[in-house]
Amino acid sequence: MTATPRIICINGSPKVGVGNTSQMTAMLRPHFERQGIAFEEHFLSQHQIRYCNGCGSCLEKGACWIRDDFKTLIRKVMAADALVLASPVYFFHVTAQMKTFIDRSLAFGHKPQDAWKPGLAVCVSAGSGETDTAGYLQHVMRTFGAYGIGALTAISAAPGQFVGKTAVEARAADLAADLARALERGERYPATDRDLQFWRFMGHLVYENRHFMAADHRHWETRGLYERFGAYVGQDTAPVNVDPAMRQAWLDSMRQPDPAPQQPKSTATGTRPHNLHTLLQFMPGHLNTAAAGDLEAVYQFEVNGDEDFTAHIHIAKGKARFNDGPASKPDLIIRSPAAVWMGISRGEIDGQTAFMEGRYTAEGDLNLLMRLPQLFASL
Ligand SMILES: Cc1cc2nc3c(=O)[nH]c(=O)nc-3n(C[C@H](O)[C@H](O)[C@H](O)COP(=O)(O)O)c2cc1C
Repeated sequence: MTATPRIICINGSPKVGVGNTSQMTAMLRPHFERQGIAFEEHFLSQHQIRYCNGCGSCLEKGACWIRDDFKTLIRKVMAADALVLASPVYFFHVTAQMKTFIDRSLAFGHKPQDAWKPGLAVCVSAGSGETDTAGYLQHVMRTFGAYGIGALTAISAAPGQFVGKTAVEARAADLAADLARALERGERYPATDRDLQFWRFMGHLVYENRHFMAADHRHWETRGLYERFGAYVGQDTAPVNVDPAMRQAWLDSMRQPDPAPQQPKSTATGTRPHNLHTLLQFMPGHLNTAAAGDLEAVYQFEVNGDEDFTAHIHIAKGKARFNDGPASKPDLIIRSPAAVWMGISRGEIDGQTAFMEGRYTAEGDLNLLMRLPQLFASL
């Protein structure tokens, strides 16, 4: 970094000094100057810069042959300690002035610089395209050896008519502070997917066309850029950093087999099921295994009244299992209003009396009905 750090700002707005883009760069300027950083702004519309005609000789020779103001500006840009690229949105992109300047930079476009100076994009639209366009400017600044630390964007259709001007000013202050800090500390931001994408694409393009992109190829070869992404971004990949024992413990926990589905039980705190469906779900947890012995039977409950469902409980090998829906071969079918069976299960209604009174019916092996009070404690 030079004694007085210098930010070069390239402004693509034709509205020199009065437009929104100018107003936004003016929001940045005092923050830089307060920190002793020179902020030098150049308006492209005040320079004579011809279109790129696509001859491609810069790819071979390393420089553009056209003699105009581009040369002066690009020297300043490349020598700067930090860069600001600013443009309003014209038809969803940068202005023609900015695009012409970028196109004329093709000699640098295929040659990643290892300067890694901080850069900032500034972009304003009337409400459509400023974030994408700012993203583009941040991408393009790698051509000039800069990496984007962020983007100052705003919506404003007429000069000064910013949506949330105070927020734009606050954002300008934050971004200026970020850029100044990055400049002072020689800070780098993490590599991005865009860097990776660009490195892959450009390395391939230059290598495949190395005969006519000779200057570009030399640049890639002499700097070892073809070899690895780390050389391009100037950042190495950190070694794997995880405690092997911790990783193994995590893997083991992931590989546990799925636990067998649990049959619900009423809680030790004595919470009582609030409806018959829940009560029947809880019943398997209250099976008296001694009373069940080697009993194998399916009890089906067809419930009406307050609740309306069919479910069955399968008893076999000293275990009971609840299932919703009818069984294929029930041994006993109990048809009961929910409130009646709820009362019987809780010991509040005498089951035999209720049966005699026809408050519920049972069909199938009635011995199983008789065994129910021994099989399940009241819930
Ligand atoms: C030719 C032209 C094209 C424009 N295209 C868009 C556009 O695509 N999207 C948008 O939101 N605003 C568009 N605008 C509006 C400007 O981006 C907006 O007014 C901006 O604030 C102008 O910034 P300036 O004052 O620095 O020139 C366009 C303006 C002009 C003159």
